[in-house]
Amino acid sequence: MRQAGRSLPEYRALRKEGSILDAIKKPDIAAEITLQPIRRYGVDAAILFSDIVVPVHAVGFGIDIEPGVGPVTENPFRTAKDLERLRDLDPIADTSYVIETIKICVDELRIPLIGFAGGPFTIASYLIEGGPSRTYKETKKLMFDNPKLWGQLMDRLTAICTSSLTSQIQAGASAIQLFDSWVGALSPDQYIRFVFPWVEKMFEEIGKTGVPKIHFGVATGELLQLMSDVGADVVGIDWRVPLDQARSRVGGGKALQGNLDPGILSAPWTAIEAEVLKVLELNDGHPGHIFNLGHGVTPDVNPDVLERIVHVVHQYRVGQ
Ligand code: CP3
Repeated sequence: MRQAGRSLPEYRALRKEGSILDAIKKPDIAAEITLQPIRRYGVDAAILFSDIVVPVHAVGFGIDIEPGVGPVTENPFRTAKDLERLRDLDPIADTSYVIETIKICVDELRIPLIGFAGGPFTIASYLIEGGPSRTYKETKKLMFDNPKLWGQLMDRLTAICTSSLTSQIQAGASAIQLFDSWVGALSPDQYIRFVFPWVEKMFEEIGKTGVPKIHFGVATGELLQLMSDVGADVVGIDWRVPLDQARSRVGGGKALQGNLDPGILSAPWTAIEAEVLKVLELNDGHPGHIFNLGHGVTPDVNPDVLERIVHVVHQYRVGQ
């Protein structure tokens, strides 16, 4: 999950100050950061060290990541003219460092590497709002005020993210995850009209490669069925929906990922352990379950707690 390595002292030592985008552009460093949590925790898959804004940054939209804030842009997307700042991504020319990082990781890893991209709604929200938002007011204004421009923006972002994901798979990623993290800000009707057609197209394209597609967002309880139907193989669940209820919303033939509350990681260990076991018990032995947090790790979390959680999950047997 996002920023899994950032509570690690070895991450902070290697990452140093400066823009995270500069660290991502150095394949040796980015590969080492990808591998750090694998060595420490013994988890069953690795997630590439990169960020969801890398492709739009690489085509020259003008976006950076401010530490402690997130993605920010001084010139938000507002008119059709701004589409000119979203040309097609040429993954080899524009993001060779991502491809190189994946190759180094895959050479070293004995477990699968997950590549990823941001979902078009989530990326659009950063471009339109100019930074993180609570209300997504500007984003919703553009959707309803100028659905044609919204469609053109989604077309551009879908093309860029599809190229990025395809190149990551070609470089050796064994699965991909689409982080449409903030799409839970939409109602089901809004999702159907303003997001579904584009994500469906992206998943159709990626589906041709045959790799599993994981789809994740926060506060998406009311959208889980749609986020499954849109073409995901695995649906990420945050901690708000119990896993058994999530399974009935997502439907048969799909796997779930989640859903330990990352907010409890500073609670006493006995409480954390009970929560971990509750997730496993609610999964009730279903074969399609990737144990994970319901969202990212914050920098203050003690790495020893994460190590103990991995141990409990690995020791767990159904019917225990
Ligand atoms: O876990 C990992 O380290 C994997 C790599 C990864 C990063 N970002 C590195 C990163 C992944 C998978 C992401 C995805 C990402 N980035 C998402 C989707 C997942 C989610 O959390 O919902 C989103 C919304 C972003 C945008 C973003 N980038 C935010 C909100 C922040 C946090 C800003 C902060 O400092 O609190 C970032 C920065 C970022 N991306 C960090 C890392 C390790 C932490 C800050 C740093 O080291 O500079």
